[in-house]
Order: sequence, then C-alpha cells, then structure tokens
Amino acid sequence: MIDELISKMTLEQKAAQMIQVPVAMVGMEKAKEWARKGVGSFLHVLGDDARELQRIAVEQSELKIPVVFGIDAIHGHCLNRNATIFPSQLAMASSWDRDLVRRVGHATAAEVATDGLHWTFSPVLCLGRDARWGRINETFGEDKYLAGELGASIIKGYQGDDLSADDSVLACAKHFIAYGEATGARDAYDTEVTYRKIKDEFLPPFKKAVEAGCATFMTAYGSVDGTPFTIDRKTLHNILREELKFDGFLITDWDNVNALIRRQRVCDNIGDASALAAKAGNDMIMCSTEFYEGIIEQVRSGKIEEKYLDEAVRHILTIKLRMGLFEKPDKKGVPGSIGCEAHRKTSLEAARKSITVLKNDGILPVNKKNIRRIAVIGPNADDIRAQYGDWTYFTHPVPGRFTEPQRPYVTLLEGIKESLKDSDIEVAYAYGCSVNGRGYYKGDYPDTGAFMEQVYQDNSHDNDGSKEMPYINEAAEIAKKADLIILALGDNYNQAGEYNDRADLNLSGMQEALVRILSTMKIPIITVLISSKPLAIPQIVNWSDAVVCAFNGGMYGGQAASEAIFGDFNPQGRLPISFPVMTGQVPVYYNQFPGWHEGRYVDCPKEPLFAFGEGLSYTWYEYSNLKFDKETKTVSVDVSNKGSVKGVETVQVYIDDVVSSVMTAVKNLAGFDKVELEPGQTKTVSIKLEDDSFSVVLPDETRVIEPGEFVIMAGHSSKDEDLIKLSVEL
Ligand code: BGC
Repeated sequence: MIDELISKMTLEQKAAQMIQVPVAMVGMEKAKEWARKGVGSFLHVLGDDARELQRIAVEQSELKIPVVFGIDAIHGHCLNRNATIFPSQLAMASSWDRDLVRRVGHATAAEVATDGLHWTFSPVLCLGRDARWGRINETFGEDKYLAGELGASIIKGYQGDDLSADDSVLACAKHFIAYGEATGARDAYDTEVTYRKIKDEFLPPFKKAVEAGCATFMTAYGSVDGTPFTIDRKTLHNILREELKFDGFLITDWDNVNALIRRQRVCDNIGDASALAAKAGNDMIMCSTEFYEGIIEQVRSGKIEEKYLDEAVRHILTIKLRMGLFEKPDKKGVPGSIGCEAHRKTSLEAARKSITVLKNDGILPVNKKNIRRIAVIGPNADDIRAQYGDWTYFTHPVPGRFTEPQRPYVTLLEGIKESLKDSDIEVAYAYGCSVNGRGYYKGDYPDTGAFMEQVYQDNSHDNDGSKEMPYINEAAEIAKKADLIILALGDNYNQAGEYNDRADLNLSGMQEALVRILSTMKIPIITVLISSKPLAIPQIVNWSDAVVCAFNGGMYGGQAASEAIFGDFNPQGRLPISFPVMTGQVPVYYNQFPGWHEGRYVDCPKEPLFAFGEGLSYTWYEYSNLKFDKETKTVSVDVSNKGSVKGVETVQVYIDDVVSSVMTAVKNLAGFDKVELEPGQTKTVSIKLEDDSFSVVLPDETRVIEPGEFVIMAGHSSKDEDLIKLSVEL
C-alpha cells in the first residue's frame, strides 16, 4: 500500500508530507491551507482545532493522507490544563522505578490521545551532566544506564504493544544526539564531542529506545566537530538506521533547517539547507516550512535525487499505517481519562516515590507530639508554577487556552495543612522572598499577552534585594514564634527550560539571606527543595536539620513532601544526578575518568555535595555476600533492613573495568533493582548485567569486551563508602 501511495504522489505532495507545521505560530487559517496541501504533521494544537484540521486533511487534500499531530507532553499532557501533571522527568528518575515510569507514560498517552493527538515529543534521553543547563529537568539525570532503562520504560508506556490502540501515542526519543553536552551548558550551543564518545556515552539510552520500539526520533540542535547534526548523515543514517536499525521516522528539532542558514551558517540559501537536511536522513522537518519550496527547487534542478524524499515519505507513511491512521484518522483516546482519578493517583505515587531525603539529623519523620506551631516559609511553599516547572500550560500556553492555575493540585503549604488537620498544631505561613529577587507578584494571567509580559519581567535580571526585606522581616516574625520551620526554596519556571540556563547555581534572589536570618533563631529547620535541578546549597544544608529534595513534583508534589516529612510513608528516592558544592565544580557527575592530580580545586572539595544514587530513608540497609556468576553475568547480594520500619531500598550495581585500551570511568552503573524489606528482613537480590556494561568503545568506534579484571560493586549509592566490592576476571 505504501509503495502504491508513493507512486501516486507528486513531488509537491512528497515535500508537504515531510513538513510539520506549528499551528501556534502560523494560526488556524494558514494551518488549514497546509492541511489541504497534504502536510505530514501539525504540532501544538489541541482538541477540536486538531480534529478540524484532520477533517480537512482527509476530506479536502488530494490524497487524503491523514495528518499526525504532535505535542510536548513532557511530564503528562501538561499543555492542557485539565490534564494530569506528573513530576518532571528528573523528579521521576529519582524513583528509579521502571514500572512506575511506564505507567506514567501509559496514562499520559491516554490523555494525549483523548485530545485527538497521536504523538508526544518525549522522552529526552540526553544526559543531564551539567546542572547549569536549563533543560536538566527534562532528563532522567546524568547516567546513561538509568536514562536508558527509564527511557525504554516510558516509551513502552506511551506506545503500548500496538500503535493503533486508542490509548497509545508515538514516543519520540530526543534529541539525537548529545544535546546535553552543549558547551558551557548554554542551551543549543555547539557540542564538544567525538563519534567515539558519542557511541560510548550518549548512544546507549537511544539504543535502548530503538530496542523498545520507539517510533520516532528527533535530531539535536548541536554539532559534531563542526558539522551540525541536522546535516550529519553519519549520525542520522549510518548510526541510527544502519547500526541501531531504527525503523521509524526522524523529525528535526524546531526550525533546524533555517538554523543551518541563520544560526549555524553552513549554507546561505534554503535550497541547499533543505537538500543537506534531506540527504542526511531527516524525514520530517519541524517548523522550517520554507523547506517545501527549497526541496522542490533542488529536486527540479537535479541537485538532489527524488529517492531521498521517497525514503523519508516511506518512513512517515509506514508509521502512519502502523498507527491505523488511515482507518481511524481521529484518535479516540479513552473518554474521561484527561485528569481522571486513576491517573492522578499515579501522579501522587510518582511524587511520593521521587521524594529524596538528603540530610536528616534525626528530626525526620517529624513527631507531631513534640510540635505546637510550625512556620512554613519560602517562595516555593505555595507557588504551583514553581512546583510544576517547565512544559506546562503556564510556560507554553497554547493560544486561546487559559493559563491560570487549575485545580486539583496541592502545594507544600496545603499539604502540610492537610497533614496536620486533625492535630492542634498551628501552621503560620510567610512568603519570605521571591526566587527572582523581585517584588512578589501573584496575579492571574487571563490571556497569553499578559502572561508573556509577566514572563518577560520575571526573566529580567534585576536583583534588587532591598525590595525583599519587608517579606523577610515578616517571615522572621512568624518563625520566632514557631518550634519548627519548614522552608520551601528552589527556583521557578523562568529559571528552567530552553533559553534559561544559569551561570550561577546558588539559590537566587534573597533566599540564602532568608535562611541565614532564620538559622540564627536556633529553631529546627527542614528545607524542602522545589527546583528544576540540583543547586549549590552547602550553606543551606549546614543551616538545616533536614533537607528534602522534591524537584518539580507535579500536581501532588506538595502533598508528597509533606507526607514524607510527617512519616506517612518511608521515602525511597535516590538522586539521579549529583549536586555540586559550588557552580565552578560542575560538571560533577560521578562517572568521570580518573585524573592525575586528584581532580580537585584548591577552593572546593573534590566530592559533590550529594552524589548520584544518594538518598536516605527512615531505616538503613546493610549489604553482604556479594557474588557474581560469570556464565550468566548475574550479580547477587544480600540486603538487610537494619532499622525498625519497613522500607524500599534501591540496590545499585556498578562496574569498574580496571584496565582497558581506552580510558574508562571510575565506575559505571550497570544494574539496579528495588526491594521492599520489613524491619530485620534480609533478601537476596539478583541482577543480571548486560554485556554492554563490560564493554568499551575503541578509537575505531567498535564496541568490544576486553578480557581482564573487573570490579563489581553493589550498594546504596555511587559513593565508595556505600559499596561493597568484588574483583572478577573475565
Ligand atoms: C525543543 C524540543 C521540542 C520542540 C517542539 C524545541 O525547541 O528543543 O524538545 O519538542 O521544540 O516544541
């Protein structure tokens, strides 16, 4: 059927099929023209507007090929304010829970499909190794194995077993590749990588995405040794198609073809840019609608053979066929699923499982009997925008849609009040200061224009702290009368996401000053970090009796943090990313190569503030009896719960390849599993390792296992003191 269809298509129809039009940018009238012309896809359009465009495509375009609709449903179908909002990908990664992440993907797919859409541009499989990067929150953290496992899980959740099912949408592994490596963590900058490094460090999660059946991939903004990925056939064709055997379709990122002219400056006209992008292996072109004229002109003038277009269109139509789009152009979805109770329950579960306790001097879980008055203080205690972070209807408003906060959600302040509703404990609240160092503004945003104005203002870098003093004073007054202070600090959505990288990972605005003042009162402080990323907060950690990391916890992030504080559940989160002591210490990811001169600065410790895999619980675990079966490459280890409450431990296995012909990291995560243990209980946990975990990528870019000594490590975190070790010869 595909061959027959392609044989009927004119050059114009093939070019149109390769284009994805941004409806939010061009407006509905232009979008309708594109639908009549036989466009391949639209993005950023919801509900009835999407259905109308589809109707035009299947009734009024000549070949009646249905359109595929894409959306950034990054942590839930979050551009629709009625949808379930899950924790950010980074927060969810703290759960280290494959099945949970799969269920989040499945719930999101049902909601996206119910809005008439077919495709989410998720997951991000780039590694988050430099916390200055604005998009850290979209990653599964710094480790390739963890990112690959959770990435494969969410892809299976989005797509299910059958792309044509009502509750399935296409996943999109992005951004291919090494986007997280942008120089200086400046979003979308040049990338300092080599092919060997790409294959060794950045390809593994994408390989797992292909193995999980991921239907689409997205090209990255960066470049490899001066060649933009958009035109790098080696990456997009040789590696992706020939080596990984990817059989879906590849879309560029936003306006990548025009960027070849305007930003990357490797061509000076749209014809050349279009031909280069098509020859490299991009199947669909996001936003650069000029590609349409550009590629037609290039084929006509004999500068590119039409077979490249045939190939691209074949990839697109094959997925459309597998989705059953020709019989069912409108996704039915699961009526009633948008924001439904079952999905919200999953969101709460995800929020709970991502809560990570980083410090506890013994105050947690808080014993309600010892407390009479709690002061809840801080800019993020009652700010749902900060709790949600990036990629929601606040940050990416779809024109004509509302952007004011939509219930249900629970902020930390609300969660604490709920946790204490049956007690005599009084809760007092003070805002404290803003994260941006600016006057507090709690307006509603009735329309997109006013909203963008506010975003613009929040983004300007006016740090006049003196404006904040009245709020800090108010907070101090309230704190004085309390016997426990719960602080909610962090960042806000305008410090996260595209364009929003940070050169300074300290708490912004007057937040540190606020804590300094409160810390002089000798009242216990519990700090809850509601942020898009790790922040450099050694002082805050010193001044706090406990630190709880919630990242962007989604609609129930506040409830989950409060429940963890009061011991309603035993926290099980583990950091998917290391925290730096200070900004100059980044990148501080755990699996670096050994250095010669100890790899430390004269003015900063070598170790991170908190390491990959760290996270406390209200019990503790002991590891013993580490074994390794060479035949099956299976590690087994006994894990005992030594405390007095039930807990869930994340058993982490690392490998050190002691001597190899290329340098390797000091250790690499090679497996993990979660185990629930009653107090006093011991279980033997067996984890099968993959061959790839023992391999290295040689200078000629081949992956091999080199025989010799390997150290197998198992334990509670990536820190040496948390691991027991075993040396084996392979
Ligand atoms: C981002 C992608 C996103 C796309 C569509 C781009 O700017 O890099 O991650 O999917 O926009 O919104």
